[in-house]
Amino acid sequence: MPNYNLTVNDTRYKIEAEEDMPLLWAIRDLVGLKGTKYGCGIAQCGACTVHLDGMPVRSCQMPVGSISKKQKITTIEGIGSEETLHAVQEAWVEEQVPQCGYCQSGQIMSAVALLEQTPKPNEEDITSYMNGNLCRCGTYDRIKKAINRASGQLSTEKP
Ligand code: FES
Ligand code: FES
Repeated sequence: MPNYNLTVNDTRYKIEAEEDMPLLWAIRDLVGLKGTKYGCGIAQCGACTVHLDGMPVRSCQMPVGSISKKQKITTIEGIGSEETLHAVQEAWVEEQVPQCGYCQSGQIMSAVALLEQTPKPNEEDITSYMNGNLCRCGTYDRIKKAINRASGQLSTEKP
């Protein structure tokens, strides 16, 4: 089997995998980070969202062989720490967004990317950007509130 060097959350991992192994499996089973979830496996739900060079991607449909060693992968474990949460994670706590929680790491990864691209999103921006992240528990209203809260927090931090 081929070897690959993956940079995940600023740490380099050498893994052995078939080139068509989905990045999601590599992250969960070879790298050992379990925060990224499997939902549909066909790029339709957003549960497996991670960032590749800062852009959100569906890791269930991204073959590990398509990723170059220079590319940076960020997972939910890499956007904050237990001591210092990311503003989006703080907002998620404040608004008590999760219900079962299963979709939420993907939701947060998309929200972080949205706010990096559009620091002050309007209602339509949020709806259209978050459209691909499904939540069977229907937490959409709280997700929107949390994104608005995080946007306000981030704009205070970076005027
Ligand atoms: S598990 Fe990847 S989009 Fe659903
Ligand atoms: S919180 Fe349960 S699926 Fe989203």
